[in-house]
Amino acid sequence: MSAAAPRSTWSNRWAFILVTIGSAVGLGNIWRFPYMTGAQGGSAFVLVYLLCVALVGLPLLMAEILIGRRGGGNPVSAMLKVAEENGASPWWGLLGWIGVLGALLILSFYSVVGGWVVDYMYQAGSGVAVATPEAAKQGFDALLADPLRLVFWHTVFLALTVGVVARGVISGIERASLLMMPALFAILLFLVLWGGMVGDLRAAWHFMFDFKPEQLTGQVVLSAMGHAFFSLSLGMGAVMAYGSYLDKQSSIARNSFWIALADTLVGLLAGLAIFSLTFAHGLEAGSGPGLIFQTLPLVFTHMPGGRVVGTLFFLLVLFAAWTSAISLVEPFVAWVTERLGVHRAIAAWGTGFAVWLLGVAVCLSFNDWSGWKLFGLNLFDQLDYLTSRVIMPLSGLAIALFVGWIMRQKNVRDEISLPVAPFQLWWRVLRYLTILAIVLVFVYRLLNPDP
Ligand code: PFF
Repeated sequence: MSAAAPRSTWSNRWAFILVTIGSAVGLGNIWRFPYMTGAQGGSAFVLVYLLCVALVGLPLLMAEILIGRRGGGNPVSAMLKVAEENGASPWWGLLGWIGVLGALLILSFYSVVGGWVVDYMYQAGSGVAVATPEAAKQGFDALLADPLRLVFWHTVFLALTVGVVARGVISGIERASLLMMPALFAILLFLVLWGGMVGDLRAAWHFMFDFKPEQLTGQVVLSAMGHAFFSLSLGMGAVMAYGSYLDKQSSIARNSFWIALADTLVGLLAGLAIFSLTFAHGLEAGSGPGLIFQTLPLVFTHMPGGRVVGTLFFLLVLFAAWTSAISLVEPFVAWVTERLGVHRAIAAWGTGFAVWLLGVAVCLSFNDWSGWKLFGLNLFDQLDYLTSRVIMPLSGLAIALFVGWIMRQKNVRDEISLPVAPFQLWWRVLRYLTILAIVLVFVYRLLNPDP
């Protein structure tokens, strides 16, 4: 696409909802949510997360889509344009930059985990049996200890992602999401039913929903809010970029509601399925990033037809991760093509190469470079911490300030086109509650500096 080409729009409203759900639903729901819940002790994390989705996530999702559509361009130029329209400083353009570059940081470790998924899909397809919990753990440790294997699958995953972005927004991204998302819902539902039949669904339910106030620590609260941002793809320009391809007739509020609901449901369903199976096999819920990679192969090994179900499951997790990863590259590529007039394919592959290099360092942080730590965290954890617990919430805060306090109310109303009462409700939540919640979480974390 050259700089002068007219911008595309999604084929219809459902296409926008599906691709944005495609961005939101990904490794965050199926890999990160269960392992974070397990590592943070369970229900307090889940409840703070749900609260954050309602008070912070949904209002911000609407605000980001609003800026994207109003600005009608990549996140940097959309921010600049909307700032100008509202008589605000061009420095707001920086917010677009933070998102666009932050998304590439996320992609560098996201792609490594995407690579684990492809590796496990390959293992499941080749009938590798995992008979005991010890074997499951050893299998995962062996993957992390092998830099070449990690780099190989990271490369495969990233190439798949960049390949779609290089083909363009409508023919690539939309078509991929339309095919993949419905299949993912179906297999997740099947796994929850299976978890209910052979697993310990009751224990999973209590673990996730029995509120235990003593679990509330600064760390739990901050990571739960961070996860709400991560899971809804907020603060990174992804939703803004997708919103810029949305036609003017679609209702931002209604679309956002469905996106947030679907994303939250997928996370909760994945959590229930995984914990019922984890507990039934006497596995450790707090085992960290390896949780699904240790629990599920064991389950598939002991399930009739497990080889097919296992392969299919990892294939769909791959789809989910893929559609999210696409939305992490698109904002920057959109900027390069629109601003510099570079051909989309060149922009996509060039960006992919830079991300690949950082991803290689992430692969090495599990083995050859594991001694290199900052605050006790390896590069993988540092990048995750920096993006989800610092950059995303801060950039979300800035977006809430911008839409709530800097934009003229008339322009906001014009774009969001809601009747008076629901508009006022959303606008006030965004202006006061969302901002207050983010600030409070940071203050709470500072006052509770637990490790
Ligand atoms: N929401 C995605 C997930 O849950 O896996 C991850 C993600 C995508 C985060 C896009 C941020 C983003 F901009």
